[in-house]
Amino acid sequence: MERARLATACFEENGVTPNMYNQDLAYIHDTGFGSFAKRSAPGVLRILREAGLRSGLVVDLGCGGGLWARRLTNAGYRVLGIDISPDMIALARKRAPRGSFRAGSFLDVDLPECVAITGLGECFNYTFDRRNNRASLSRFFRRAFQALRPGGLLIFDVAEPGRARGANRGFWEGPDWACLVEFVHEERRRLLTRKNTTFRKVGQQYRRTKETHVQQLYRASELASDLRKIGFRVRIVRAYGEFRLAKAHAGVIARQPA
Ligand SMILES: C[S@@+](CC[C@H](N)C(=O)[O-])C[C@H]1O[C@@H](n2cnc3c(N)ncnc32)[C@H](O)[C@@H]1O
Repeated sequence: MERARLATACFEENGVTPNMYNQDLAYIHDTGFGSFAKRSAPGVLRILREAGLRSGLVVDLGCGGGLWARRLTNAGYRVLGIDISPDMIALARKRAPRGSFRAGSFLDVDLPECVAITGLGECFNYTFDRRNNRASLSRFFRRAFQALRPGGLLIFDVAEPGRARGANRGFWEGPDWACLVEFVHEERRRLLTRKNTTFRKVGQQYRRTKETHVQQLYRASELASDLRKIGFRVRIVRAYGEFRLAKAHAGVIARQPA
């Protein structure tokens, strides 16, 4: 309760929806939905290495519970993880103790000089920060361009129009949780809403919480065009290495030219 109140106090002024991926959904995402970060990691590590980026600082945006950050520190990189959810940041600090982590929106982060910036798991699509839109993303890309060392990479994946098309409801469960999701597709406005109801075991009982997540969908090609205008060399990929992304889910690899 106190944590939720503090989160509200911290972020509301900036137009950030408070308390997203709260304690329970952060836990559920971390324990039940970590496979995306785990399966992406080998391919993304290979992309970094093939670009000659074998060490140095990686800024991981929307770092979640730190699964990818931990892979990075184990591979010899330094990591700064940023996530808007203080509960995710608490999990990341535990999982990747050699990384540094900050709670906040990527739109506000002061980007240090770095060899790579990553955003895995559709981080740029979320509208938890109500200022997040194509124009503010483009301004963020410009800052990323300035922060990256020559030859550095910005790597992210993006949910495109048509993402999860056909899904209306979903149900997932683990030993001590369940998550019910209702999907709302607004094709014209290119919005995908997930209404999450979670149940998490606390003592002998289950606590119910609700969170609604709205994602703004972008074509990877339109973000690529914004990135190219800034000076990035851009590739759109449909897989991270061996791991194929789902339909209407694309990877973007943008290189700050050396
Ligand atoms: C689907 S999760 C992916 C987490 C992790 N990268 C992974 O792949 O497992 C998306 C993450 O983006 C974070 N996020 C959404 N909007 C954000 C913003 N404006 N600034 C920082 N993090 C944000 C969420 O809190 C969440 O942890």
